[in-house]
Amino acid sequence: MDNDRARFFAEESWTGGVIGLGYVGLPLAVTMVQNGLRAIGFDRSPRRVEMLQRGISPVEDVTDEELSAALAGGLQITSDESDLAQSDAIFICVPSPLGRHREPDLSFIKSAAATVENVVGPGMLVSLESTTYPGTTEDIIVPAVTGKGLVADEDVFVAFSPERVSPGAEMKTGDIPKVVGGISPTSTEVAAAAYARVVAAVHPVSSARAAEMAKLLENTYRAVNIGLVNEMAQLAHELDINIWEVVDAAATKPFGFHAFYPGPGVGGHCIPLDPQFLAWRAKEANFSTRFIDLAEQVNTKMPEYAATRVADLLNRHGKPVFGTRILGIGIAYKPDVSDDRESASIEVLKELEQRGAHVSVLDPVVGKARIESHGFPSVGEDDSLADFAVAVLLTDHAVLDLKRIAAEVPLVLDTRGAFRRSGYEPDNVEFL
Ligand SMILES: NC(=O)c1ccc[n+]([C@@H]2O[C@H](COP(=O)([O-])OP(=O)(O)OC[C@H]3O[C@@H](n4cnc5c(N)ncnc54)[C@H](O)[C@@H]3O)[C@@H](O)[C@H]2O)c1
Repeated sequence: MDNDRARFFAEESWTGGVIGLGYVGLPLAVTMVQNGLRAIGFDRSPRRVEMLQRGISPVEDVTDEELSAALAGGLQITSDESDLAQSDAIFICVPSPLGRHREPDLSFIKSAAATVENVVGPGMLVSLESTTYPGTTEDIIVPAVTGKGLVADEDVFVAFSPERVSPGAEMKTGDIPKVVGGISPTSTEVAAAAYARVVAAVHPVSSARAAEMAKLLENTYRAVNIGLVNEMAQLAHELDINIWEVVDAAATKPFGFHAFYPGPGVGGHCIPLDPQFLAWRAKEANFSTRFIDLAEQVNTKMPEYAATRVADLLNRHGKPVFGTRILGIGIAYKPDVSDDRESASIEVLKELEQRGAHVSVLDPVVGKARIESHGFPSVGEDDSLADFAVAVLLTDHAVLDLKRIAAEVPLVLDTRGAFRRSGYEPDNVEFL
């Protein structure tokens, strides 16, 4: 390795600063410490900082015990950005939502870049991890690190490395291979050497833009394939075929097929959003992204379709939606997490409410307060379900007692194939 700074990150004991201590930044900071490095975590939310300093983790992927061990082992949590000046590398893990008109909202990345500008020093590596459109690292991070006269690639090194963590999944930050693209081969080498100390495998690419686009391809691939299977689900229903059986059958092919399953729509803060970063950038280049647009059309119509299927199910049993008590099961955007951001479940249930149903929600993982914040009465795990005419299973948390649900509620629409996977498919359960 003839790159001195890369050698430093590969061999020395260095300090990593993390800006933004959420689902992405906190596990990264803790993983650094678990790998024998020092970490300084900075967040601009005083409440979050105070909580973290007391050893209380706000994210499922870091337990309170892991956080406390990290705090004892070299993790400093701060709300004072000047502390980041002691870092050898800074990792930016702030939100990157869409604005009101589905345009990228880079305000968090810009404010993190302003922090970097205040603390950057010679030898530092700055890596952006927030999902964004190709070109952001060059357009926003490079000017910030060079603002004080430091020269990119000589005094400071800049890269983009997308985060792929999936909250609640078994594979954690340190286990997931990381794509790393610097603004030049030198920066790539420096960033790859740093990440190799923290994660199991590093895949370097030739530019930050390639790394930015790789992340968007990954999530667009998922959005498009989910859109495809959602369309297939609607067709299969028309043809009186069980789509779950069809996907399971196709998935026995040992090559060339990757199973995606239908559902009541896409949720969370990645799959519905990330393709839009690419679509927005494409529009700037006068390029039309037909797959992205089509998948979005199909996926955003799914909550309405699921609500219609509930209505049809009731109708076939002589009941209206209007005035009927409906139980929504699962309000989180995916199983076994308490995160309900952008959850399709909420859309399905609001649609049923608009059609006059009285909707209550059972979600043992999300919890009462959060359910009620959406305006739905919450049903406890031990409460009777006998008063509901129909249940719509929207999030297949592992803790759900499927047998009890099917025994107590006369009709169930399972939008996730949970009953099929459990091997228990009573007659009163219909699949999406
Ligand atoms: N959550 C995921 O599953 C996931 C997976 C892959 C990629 N990502 C991407 O990672 C990025 C971060 O997402 P997240 O889910 O960790 O967000 P989050 O909302 O959980 O956490 C972000 C944290 O950043 C803090 N913050 C915001 N602006 C700041 C600033 N200027 N300075 C300091 N702190 C600031 C917030 O207070 C918050 O604590 C996003 O771009 C997201 O798209 C998320």
